[in-house]
Amino acid sequence: MLDIAIDRDQPATEFYADLASSAAALVDGEPDAIANMANVAALIWQYVPGLNWAGFYRRIGDELVLGPFQGKTACIRIAMGAGVCGAAAATGEVQRVADVHAFPGHIACDAESRSELVVPVLKNGRVIAVLDLDSPLPDHFRAADEAGMVRLIEAIANNLG
Ligand code: SME
Repeated sequence: MLDIAIDRDQPATEFYADLASSAAALVDGEPDAIANMANVAALIWQYVPGLNWAGFYRRIGDELVLGPFQGKTACIRIAMGAGVCGAAAATGEVQRVADVHAFPGHIACDAESRSELVVPVLKNGRVIAVLDLDSPLPDHFRAADEAGMVRLIEAIANNLG
């Protein structure tokens, strides 16, 4: 196993650079997407503050299906375009939602969730999964979190599907 130690108190750019390198090291040489998603969800859960859910939905056919995650049990299937995850999958664009109650069609898996960040995972130009992060804190995710998570996902996307 890798010995991972990331300084949570450093500036966001450095923190996310370390998080992305650790994620890349975790998936390096491992082709199994489920195993890699499981380890990356655990890594994010351990190091990123203020989350009540962190994990992946995989695109299977024309819907998203629950993948490896940390947090409370969650909805299993999400139609493309439905909720925050479905919007990210359908558009291929990051969804950073300050107030999930104001997002049309938001799917409330955990009633405590207040803000959400969903990053699409693209491989060969196609959305193969999404990374979903939920927070019980309103407006929790900053532009630096979005940029950092996009960078992390880009670093490991080839090993997630
Ligand atoms: N809130 C998400 C559904 C997934 S759960 O939060 C884990 C959405 O609206 O897509």
